Amino acid sequence: MGIIEIRGLNKFFGSFHALKDIDLTIREGEVFGLLGLNGAGKTTLIRILMGLLNPSSGSVRVFGIDPSTNPLPIRKRASLLPQECQAYENLTAMENILYYGLMQSEAPKEELIERANYLIDLIGLKGRENQLTKKFSGGMKRKVLVARSVVGNPDLLFLDEPTTGIDVLGARKVRNLIQKLSRNEKKTIILTTHDLTEINLLCDRVGILVDGELKAIGTPDELEGQFQAANIEDIFSSLVEGRIGGDEE
Ligand SMILES: Nc1ncnc2c1ncn2[C@@H]1O[C@H](COP(=O)(O)OP(=O)(O)OP(=O)(O)O)[C@@H](O)[C@H]1O
Ligand SMILES: [Mg+2]
Repeated sequence: MGIIEIRGLNKFFGSFHALKDIDLTIREGEVFGLLGLNGAGKTTLIRILMGLLNPSSGSVRVFGIDPSTNPLPIRKRASLLPQECQAYENLTAMENILYYGLMQSEAPKEELIERANYLIDLIGLKGRENQLTKKFSGGMKRKVLVARSVVGNPDLLFLDEPTTGIDVLGARKVRNLIQKLSRNEKKTIILTTHDLTEINLLCDRVGILVDGELKAIGTPDELEGQFQAANIEDIFSSLVEGRIGGDEE
C-alpha cells in the first residue's frame, strides 16, 4: 500500500471541474513531481491531501487515514509548504522556524534548535537568523518557510513551488536540501514546480496534470518510452498542447 492512495478523486468548485477522476498511489520514500500549467489543479490536489479542502467524490487516504474526516493525525506526520504563505513578520527567522517545529514535533526544544540551525545554515540564512523576517527580502522569507516546513521532521512533505522567488544560488540550496531529505532521511516528498530541470534532478516519478486530468504518471524514463519523446519537456508540451492523448498504454 502507498503512503498516499487516491481513487476516483473529483473536485468541483461550483460547476467548475477542477480535478477529474484522479487515481494515484504515492510510495513511501519517493520524490514525486507534479507538473501542470497554471490552474491545472496541483495546489488543489495538495490541499485535499492535507485535509484543507474536501473532495467532491472519490477516496483519498494518507497514511491510511481519510484527510477529509481526520486531518489532525496526518498533519502530525506531514508538512506543507504552501504556494502562498507568509512568515510571521514580527518573529525572527529562528523564531518562525522553531514555532513551527514546536507545534509539529514532540522533540525536545534543544533538538529542534539544533535542527533549525542546521537548516538555516544549509539554506543560506546563517547570520540572519535572529533578525525579524519583516526585514527580509521575498526570497529570504521563502527560505524561512522552506526551513519551517521541515524542522519538525515530518515523514511526508508537500512542497508547493518551493523555489519560486528564490535566487539561483538559493534555489540550488533548496534542491540540495530536498535531495538530502530524500536520500539521507528517506522522506516522502510531493513537489510542484514549473522548473523542469528541478523535476529531472529531484523526482523519482512525475505526474502531469492537464486541466484537472492526470494524463501521465511514471519515471522520466518510463514516460520517455511511453510517449516516444526525448525528454519531459517534450512530453509536457505535447500533452498540454493536446497533440498526444496520454491514454494509450
Ligand atoms: N477556492 C477556489 N474556488 C474556486 N475555484 C478555485 C479555488 N481554488 C482553485 N480554484 C480553481 O481550480 C483550478 C486549479 O487551481 P490550482 O490552484 O489547483 O492550480 P495550480 O495547478 O496549483 O496552478 P498554479 O501553477 O498557478 O499554482 C483553477 O482554475 C482555479 O481557478
Ligand atoms: Mg498552485
